Amino acid sequence: MESIQELIKGNIRWVQKTEKNDPDFFKKLAAEQKPQYLWIGCSDSRVSATEITGTLPGSIFVQRNIANMVIHTDSNLLSVVNYAVKVLKVKHIIVCGHYGCGGMMAAMGNKNFGFLDNWLLHIKDVYRMHSKELNAIEDETERAQRFVELNVIEQVNNLAKVSFIQEEWQHGEYPYLHGWVYKLNDGLIHDLEISVNSSESLSEVYQYHPKEVKKKT
Ligand code: CO
Repeated sequence: MESIQELIKGNIRWVQKTEKNDPDFFKKLAAEQKPQYLWIGCSDSRVSATEITGTLPGSIFVQRNIANMVIHTDSNLLSVVNYAVKVLKVKHIIVCGHYGCGGMMAAMGNKNFGFLDNWLLHIKDVYRMHSKELNAIEDETERAQRFVELNVIEQVNNLAKVSFIQEEWQHGEYPYLHGWVYKLNDGLIHDLEISVNSSESLSEVYQYHPKEVKKKT
């Protein structure tokens, strides 16, 4: 029970420090949130969106799960994305993976993880899609790192396939989708430079075309 009290104490210290920097911080933040970014990251305790980007509460809308997956039957994630895009009107959605991801490594192997296997299957599907490239990498750490990158790319593609995101692109420039990988050993973010704001790079079967407007006769 002592360690849980540390969190409450830490909270009080944080409030004092924050108010010292900006006495109106909480008053302003309580009034509304206007984040420009949605972060889809891994649940890993070492990859906290605001902390690693040096931003304050109020800056980033966040969804995290094991291995930063975008799965089209995940109504939790899709509700967060929908709210971010339709209501908050975020300008950027970032999928951020990280090297040394336990979920990714588990999915690469042949060990059974019980209930978790169902989630890991989605990650194994990504491995299968890129098995030719991945199997050619002999060094296991290097192969795991490339797998993390390819998974981020696939999850950005998965976001681009979402019909209500494509709908936004039919009306304007936003949201931009980005793929990043965080390095645990130096704390730096590596931009995979795959930013996209159209469905053009997707296979045609995933591209929705705007509804034709019937002309009045
Ligand atoms: Co992870």
